[in-house]
Amino acid sequence: MMRLDKYLVAMQAGSRSEVKDLCKKGLVTVNGAVCKQSDIKIDEYKDEVALRGVLLTYEKYRYYMLHKPAGVVTATKDNHDKTVLDLLSGVNTKDLSPAGRLDKDTEGLLLITSDGELIHNLLSPKKHVDKTYYVKTRDMVKEEHLKQLEKGVDIGEDSLTLPARAKLLSEKELLLTICEGKFHQVKRMLQAVDNEVLYLKRMSFGSLTLDENLAPGEFRPLTDREIDKLKNGEK
Ligand code: URA
Repeated sequence: MMRLDKYLVAMQAGSRSEVKDLCKKGLVTVNGAVCKQSDIKIDEYKDEVALRGVLLTYEKYRYYMLHKPAGVVTATKDNHDKTVLDLLSGVNTKDLSPAGRLDKDTEGLLLITSDGELIHNLLSPKKHVDKTYYVKTRDMVKEEHLKQLEKGVDIGEDSLTLPARAKLLSEKELLLTICEGKFHQVKRMLQAVDNEVLYLKRMSFGSLTLDENLAPGEFRPLTDREIDKLKNGEK
């Protein structure tokens, strides 16, 4: 149960005072009956609330896919740089956080959500969620380097990186799938085979794949199917 005004604010109908006004004006109905009092309690899952005749559906959490461009930081606030949340224009970003982190110069798929439990599960080292990156390198990637990357390389941690999948696309381009998320991991893995990452883009994160229709800087809400797959841990 929650207060009608709080519900309407959560549904982005307006501020506390605006939604109070909407109710007073008789623009809000609960189960078909005009409700002028904004402080009544409603059942957000069962009661049918409509604003100006349009039914609202309550979503506990919000989920967005952002095509992160280079030059913005994966943070909720920053004193110098634009953040990934700044890109979600028109969205109330109050409870939103990015699931994990991409470097400032990395592009690609970033999940941004208010579902803290999902973030926790996706980032848990025990869950081994796959992340696929498109990588452009300074030097040619040889077959032996691919094998090393796949087997595990020394990036200065206590143990080698976990087995990965590497697929060469051209002499200096590869797709690398890793199931960990160590700081600068892909860059450090390429350094470990005497190479350097010149460009990095995340193509997928667990079951979620970057939507080709999103240009860098664009975002969209996840579909119900995408949310279900992520929650069910589908690959
Ligand atoms: N690995 C990196 O080195 N950087 C990223 O942004 C993501 C993975």
